[in-house]
Amino acid sequence: MQYLIFGGNGLVGKSLQKELSKTNHSVAATSRDATAFPMAIALDITNRAELEKVFSQVQPNVVINATNLAGGVDFCENNPDKAKAFHFEANKNIGELCLQYNARMVLISTDYVFDGTQPPYRETDAVCPLNTYGKEKLAAEEWMQSNLKNYCIARTTNVFGWDPLTKTPNFLMSLYFKLSKGEKANAPSFLWGNPTHVSQLSKTILELCEKEKNGIYHIVGSSYINRYEWAKLFCEKLNFDLSLLVEQTEIPTNIAPRPFKSNLSIENIQSECTTPAVGVIEGLELFREEMAS
Ligand SMILES: NC(=O)c1ccc[n+]([C@@H]2O[C@H](COP(=O)([O-])OP(=O)(O)OC[C@H]3O[C@@H](n4cnc5c(N)ncnc54)[C@H](OP(=O)(O)O)[C@@H]3O)[C@@H](O)[C@H]2O)c1
Repeated sequence: MQYLIFGGNGLVGKSLQKELSKTNHSVAATSRDATAFPMAIALDITNRAELEKVFSQVQPNVVINATNLAGGVDFCENNPDKAKAFHFEANKNIGELCLQYNARMVLISTDYVFDGTQPPYRETDAVCPLNTYGKEKLAAEEWMQSNLKNYCIARTTNVFGWDPLTKTPNFLMSLYFKLSKGEKANAPSFLWGNPTHVSQLSKTILELCEKEKNGIYHIVGSSYINRYEWAKLFCEKLNFDLSLLVEQTEIPTNIAPRPFKSNLSIENIQSECTTPAVGVIEGLELFREEMAS
């Protein structure tokens, strides 16, 4: 199979390439910067002509969109046109090209399609996004469901892994950058979720591709914990000074609305796939091993 990964220099994109390097599949990967890594293909996913060129060049069988818009949820809220172009229109363009090239499309989606009032959430539960990011991801999901047969929507959350060169640090990398300089770090105890080690996410996505499973899947770690408790475990595991952690109990008033308790159920994915769900302690151990290697 020929895989094509958009966002090859991101946390998930790198992990997918690492897992694919252990298989017989061929892989092509993109970045906006052609010098980002060896063989990187230059591409901005919001440019339809560039997408067409890359599809024609690579002739993919499986296309995984692992790009993300820098600035995240709050940037999307303040820039709704850019959010729509990136999270909906680009995915629609990718989907149309997947139809043209008879390729499978994989979208990495989010728990932010839910409002967080009735966790845990199964794949079949009613959606109710609270912010622009969630609404545009959902619009892309719905377009795929209406127009594609050969597709997979992988909803995930709180993805983490060791990535010291990242420009968009995940929660644990942000903690690491601050704590290793002896700086204080905020950790909200009002924000609950499922820490998901990136290797579990990428292995499960590739297993779903191998098994040609179509539809929506929740792919997250097996623990449900708030960020302050998670940060405390991180400090203990990596021997950081616990007194540098500042528990945030109040929800800031200047952030985009979001679900604060959006536990995703892994019952379905565990019945469909053999890749094990990683718990929070095991995930921290993997993070420490990655740091040391
Ligand atoms: N991280 C999480 O907790 C989480 C949770 C739910 C869903 N997800 C989804 O998982 C996916 C991957 O997330 P991640 O954490 O791996 O993100 P990431 O580390 O921030 O990487 C995203 C990559 O997107 C690329 N990119 C940004 N703008 C682009 C554009 N206009 N055209 C092409 N590429 C562009 C960047 O590559 P270059 O700078 O090299 O171009 C960057 O390396 C995203 O779809 C995200 O929505 C993540």
